[in-house]
Amino acid sequence: MPRTIDWVDDRIEVVDQTVLPSVRVLALGTLDELVSAIRLLVVRGAPALGVAGALGVALAARGPGASEPELLAGAERLAQARPTAANLAWGVRQALAAWPHGPDAVLAAALRIRDEDIRSCRSIGAHGADLLRSLLPGRAALRLHTHCNAGALACVEWGTALGVVRSLHAAGGVDYVVVGETRPLLQGARITALELAEAGIRHRVVVDGAGPSIVAHGLVDAVLVGADRIAANGDVANKIGTYPLALAAARAGVPFLVAAPRSTVDLATPDGAAIVIEDRDADEVLVHQGRRVTPLGSTAWNPAFDVTPADLVTAVVTEDGIWRP
Ligand code: MRU
Repeated sequence: MPRTIDWVDDRIEVVDQTVLPSVRVLALGTLDELVSAIRLLVVRGAPALGVAGALGVALAARGPGASEPELLAGAERLAQARPTAANLAWGVRQALAAWPHGPDAVLAAALRIRDEDIRSCRSIGAHGADLLRSLLPGRAALRLHTHCNAGALACVEWGTALGVVRSLHAAGGVDYVVVGETRPLLQGARITALELAEAGIRHRVVVDGAGPSIVAHGLVDAVLVGADRIAANGDVANKIGTYPLALAAARAGVPFLVAAPRSTVDLATPDGAAIVIEDRDADEVLVHQGRRVTPLGSTAWNPAFDVTPADLVTAVVTEDGIWRP
């Protein structure tokens, strides 16, 4: 699999996540193309969005005759392309901070964010694997449940929650992974299952509604997810369907771990109630694979994320170790 997102020949190359498990790489040469790719989820996942935000500012800064007002307006449009993942606006801000030193400095800052993401994921993987082994001593190989895709394809490489799975698997510590399919766009079924299959990790895909009862039936030892924004009090926004898994895990006494880089922790947002939840197009729910599945006249709600209160979270694993609000 190529890198999820990279800077190649003065353009941003991304693995098109809308067609996975088929693999197609797209080269994005303008800010408009990038903003549209982010809105359509061609590039997605909080850490990958952070890198996209930074590289997008570099793209705009290097454009012919880029003026400061244009750059600032473009950066704002980019930062707002998706509201929930903290990393997007964070990546934009980090790259913009280098603008006084010129376009090459902006690109260098963006490439540092790309490289830092790779290092962070490796550390998150190692810290998460250590934590799971200490929380669940005496179990040689763990049964894990994950939701959406918090893998290499949501980052630059390796992944956050799936980075933990990969690190554990490298030491023979994974029995199987239960993957929530993640309606409506199937990031679990299409993307996480692909990553696990390529890594040779045993897995089963389940419909989202099955997840909580699978936890309740004692079929998993821990639930492990990524995050789009973590508020200062530790409340966690992640893909819709995460909160029911956290409730089920608490009820069953099973650890519920969140794996995310520090750039996902937003200390300016006091709690989950202050997190803006992206409301996506109703057609993502009403239409499936090009066919309308509901009667004409039915409408839908399509919140892309939910908020899991901090008291349901056993631990937040970051590149620096365990983060406590
Ligand atoms: O709508 P998406 O696919 O961008 O949502 C992604 C998620 O919810 C992930 O779990 C989260 O961004 C963490 S990715 C390491």
